[in-house]
Amino acid sequence: MPNASDDLFTREDPIFANKELLEINHLPGEGRIVGRDDEISNLATAVNPAIFGQSPSNVLIYGKTGTGKSLCAKYVSQRLVETASEEAVKATFAYVDCAQDTTETQAVQTIADSVNRSEVTGIKVPDKGLSTSTYYKRLWRILDAQYDVVLIILDEIDKLSDDDILMQLSRAGEAGKIDQCKLGVIGISNKIQYKDRMDERVKSSLCEREFVFPPYDANQLRDIMDARSDAFRDGVLDPSTIPRAAALAAREHGDARKAIDILRYAGEIAQSTAASTVREEFVTQARQRAETDRFRELIRGSTPHSRYVLQALAMLSLSNERQDGFRTSRVYEVYENICTGQGSDSLSLRRVRDLLKEHAFLDIIEQSKHSGGSAEGSYTKHQLLEDPQVVRDVLSEEVGT
Ligand SMILES: Nc1ncnc2c1ncn2[C@@H]1O[C@H](COP(=O)(O)OP(=O)(O)OP(=O)(O)O)[C@@H](O)[C@H]1O
Ligand SMILES: [Mg+2]
Repeated sequence: MPNASDDLFTREDPIFANKELLEINHLPGEGRIVGRDDEISNLATAVNPAIFGQSPSNVLIYGKTGTGKSLCAKYVSQRLVETASEEAVKATFAYVDCAQDTTETQAVQTIADSVNRSEVTGIKVPDKGLSTSTYYKRLWRILDAQYDVVLIILDEIDKLSDDDILMQLSRAGEAGKIDQCKLGVIGISNKIQYKDRMDERVKSSLCEREFVFPPYDANQLRDIMDARSDAFRDGVLDPSTIPRAAALAAREHGDARKAIDILRYAGEIAQSTAASTVREEFVTQARQRAETDRFRELIRGSTPHSRYVLQALAMLSLSNERQDGFRTSRVYEVYENICTGQGSDSLSLRRVRDLLKEHAFLDIIEQSKHSGGSAEGSYTKHQLLEDPQVVRDVLSEEVGT
């Protein structure tokens, strides 16, 4: 049976030609970043002095999830390093995911380790075991030994447990910790209220420039997906698939990650059903899965109380299906019960209001103002935009983590 294996296995993927283009961590190259020309050029202007070996401005980037913040920050940093090297300026950048490195020590360690070339500096940066101040001392020595300019991207900066590292980084030059090397910090957050929590001194040095990335519209999402359609084999992608996915994703959030996820999942559905083309109808199914993923990612690293608030709203929605929205006091009651059940003290009503606002900014919930007549005054109602079932399921997965 010389050809038996040919019957058993498919040697070529019938759907995808280059699936990496649709994977989460794929960093699109030149020409594949669509619809962010202004944002990229503003960022470039802010850090431009680095090319002459001068201090770049510190930048804070805000915007909803999937609006290209991390992508553009990395892209501009990469380009800066290349251009600086053409000018014989030694530059590099470090990327820290603060949802992963939440403590000051972890973040400094990551920065020091990622910019260190121990064969040049003779300095070691162990994964753990040193005090925070020792990591800092090594970082300053590494920076001065190797570089003229370093950009530090602190992504998901709101997940840091405190502002100490921001204080250190933004003042390293002034404080005489480093003398050769100039530092620039690019902070990224999807919490619009993040800045309000920041220490005044940190705020003034860290937020020299602020940029807000708007959600994408359907045309931009279509262009973003079109630019990656070579992930699929020729002729496999039904022409209506991308426009449909773009329309859905734009209507819901303007989130490019979700749009790309929908496209990848639609391809996977075609694969698993042995369909020869990726058809428009797969988009609907793919959307469900993308939505669950998106919500899981949105609440990654969020505090227990931030989750309890959502859980409260999900419980209310599931038990009162026909009601559109619940008043703050009602949400707070259920939230308090959840806290009791978890053996945890509840936060003040004011803090819960803030948490609800954060969720509203990310389009997890929607808030509406109502006037209850002269006796009651006005009040706010909160409604989940995510499917309550999805919220409940994802939150219950997370229990105990
Ligand atoms: N303008 C664009 N062109 C091409 N691809 C894009 C564009 N914007 C975003 N993407 C892709 O969409 C995904 C999400 O983008 P990115 O990670 O930059 O979002 P973000 O704003 O950092 O979101 P979050 O707040 O959730 O971290 C990435 O896979 C990215 O490659
Ligand atoms: Mg990001």
